[in-house]
Amino acid sequence: MSVAEPADQSTADSFANSWNNLSQGSVYTFAQFLDWMDPLTPESFAGSEVLELGFGNGSLLFHVGGCRPKRLVGIDLGDTIDTARKNLSKFDPLPIELHRGDLTQAQLGEFDLVYCIGVLHHLSEPRAGFESVLRHTRPGGRFHCWVYGWEGNALIRLLVEPIRRRACKLPWWINKYLVALPLSIPFFLYCKAIGWLNRLAPIRGLLKLLPLRDYAVWISKREWGFFHHVAFDQLVTPQTVYLRREELADWLNDPRIQQGSTYIQMRNGNSWKFGGLRSYE
Ligand SMILES: C[S@@+](CC[C@H](N)C(=O)[O-])C[C@H]1O[C@@H](n2cnc3c(N)ncnc32)[C@H](O)[C@@H]1O
Repeated sequence: MSVAEPADQSTADSFANSWNNLSQGSVYTFAQFLDWMDPLTPESFAGSEVLELGFGNGSLLFHVGGCRPKRLVGIDLGDTIDTARKNLSKFDPLPIELHRGDLTQAQLGEFDLVYCIGVLHHLSEPRAGFESVLRHTRPGGRFHCWVYGWEGNALIRLLVEPIRRRACKLPWWINKYLVALPLSIPFFLYCKAIGWLNRLAPIRGLLKLLPLRDYAVWISKREWGFFHHVAFDQLVTPQTVYLRREELADWLNDPRIQQGSTYIQMRNGNSWKFGGLRSYE
C-alpha cells in the first residue's frame, strides 16, 4: 500500500493516542450505534459482507459484530489494531479482518455494505475518502457515512476550533487532562441542563433558541466519562473540516450511485448522515 498523506498520518497517530487509552469495550451504547446507522438497521448487516473505513478502537464494529454479519473487515491508519482486536475478541470465530493503512488508497475488494462514520471530515481530502466508500461498495450494495456539518456548528467553529488548532500540538496527555478535562465541565453542565429542561414541556420550544440544543439533548443521556472522551476526540485531531449539505449532495450526484436511493439526513442539528445504493454498471 502506498504512503499516506503526512497530514492524515498525523491525524491517525493523534487518534490512536485517544483510542489506545480507553477502557475495554465500545465507547458507544447500542442506542447510539442504532442512531448513527439509521436508516440502516441491524437487519441491514445480518448475513452481509461489511467494511468499516476508519474503525478507531472497533467501537462500531463491536455493535456490528452483534448483528451477525457474514464477514467483517475494517481499515484504519492509526496503530489501533491490537486495541480493536481485544474489543472484538468476544466475536470469535466470526471472520473479522483488521488492516492498517490509508483508506483513500486501500483496495480491499467489494462489500455488500460499507460505512464510514466520523472519518471523512478528518481527511486532507474528504472527497478521496468518499471515492473509497464507492470503490468498496459492490454494484447494488449500500453505503452510509456520517460527517460534521457546517450547518449548526457555528459555536463550535468559533470557540472550539481555535482551541483545537493549538491543543492538538500538545502532548496527548496534557491535552486530555489539562485542556479537554476542564473544558468538559462546562460542556457537561450545559448539556445536562438542556437535557433536564427539555423534559419540561412548557419550555421545550424556547430551548430551540439555544445553540447545539438537539446535540445537547442527545449527549445528555451519557455519563461524565463520555463527555470527556468526546471533548478530547474533538481537540486531539490536527485536521477537521465541516461539510455543507450542498457539497454532500454534489458527491451523491454521481452515475455510480442509484439516484432514487440516496438520502442526506441532519443528525442532532449539527451533522449529516448520507448514503445510498451503488448502481449496477
Ligand atoms: C473520529 S475517529 C472515528 C472512528 C470510528 N469510526 C468511530 O466512529 O468510533 C476517526 C478515525 O479515522 C482514522 N483515519 C484518519 N485518517 C485516515 C486515513 N487516511 N485512512 C484510514 N483511517 C484514517 C483515524 O485513525 C481514526 O481512528
